[in-house]
Amino acid sequence: MQVWVGLMAAATLSACGTDAQSTTVSPSVCKSEIQWTGGDEKSPLMHPGKDCVACHAERGEGPEFAIAGTVYPDMHEADDCYGEAGVKVVITGSDGKEFTLTANASGNFFMEKKDSASLKLPYTAKVVSGNKENAMGTAQVAGSCNSCHTKAGTGGAPGRITVP
Ligand code: HEC
Ligand code: HEC
Repeated sequence: MQVWVGLMAAATLSACGTDAQSTTVSPSVCKSEIQWTGGDEKSPLMHPGKDCVACHAERGEGPEFAIAGTVYPDMHEADDCYGEAGVKVVITGSDGKEFTLTANASGNFFMEKKDSASLKLPYTAKVVSGNKENAMGTAQVAGSCNSCHTKAGTGGAPGRITVP
């Protein structure tokens, strides 16, 4: 069954906007129907849902991020599922300065440490889509959103960062 699904996915790649580093899956696996299958191959789309900052630090490879995470259509999506593209994530520093990041094709958004000198901690965060928004009530200092916003949620987080 797994193999058959894999073959089906390969056959429909170009139709569904996937590429060599992703594959089509059923909506019960990923609501977006796209899953990252590129392993640790470097890409801005890589490992949606995983803790970007921790892995890059551990490996001493990849950009150093001040802020990084993934926006999802659902609260409890698995690691490597693509999230929601094009959604805005607004980070507000403790001095009120706002930084707007846009989720890329896999739902990932990030700000490199070298670009974050004027981000004052702690920050607050909200996800904005059209005229709706989802705001985090608590201010945070840790910039790795996915460290708390896991599939089940840790550190009090309800699960993934979701589209309002
Ligand atoms: C399990 C480890 C791991 C995780 C998790 C991970 N990365 Fe990476 N990432 C890497 C490694 C290793 C590299 C550098 C590989 C190289 O230089 O060949 C990299 C490189 C990158 C690059 C540089 C791409 C380029 O073209 O130079 C970006 C951007 C990136 N990662 C974004 C992310 C984002 C965003 C996340 C989280 C959603 C993430 N990564 C999660 C291991 C990881
Ligand atoms: C140290 C853990 C932690 C980190 C890191 C973290 N959050 Fe949260 N987040 C929480 C908790 C706890 C809640 C639920 C309570 C609340 O709203 O404050 C939450 C709630 C949210 C919500 C509202 C819930 C929803 O429906 O989506 C959003 C949006 C959000 N976080 C975005 C972010 C973003 C963006 C980042 C990274 C820039 C981030 N969070 C980093 C713990 C964290």
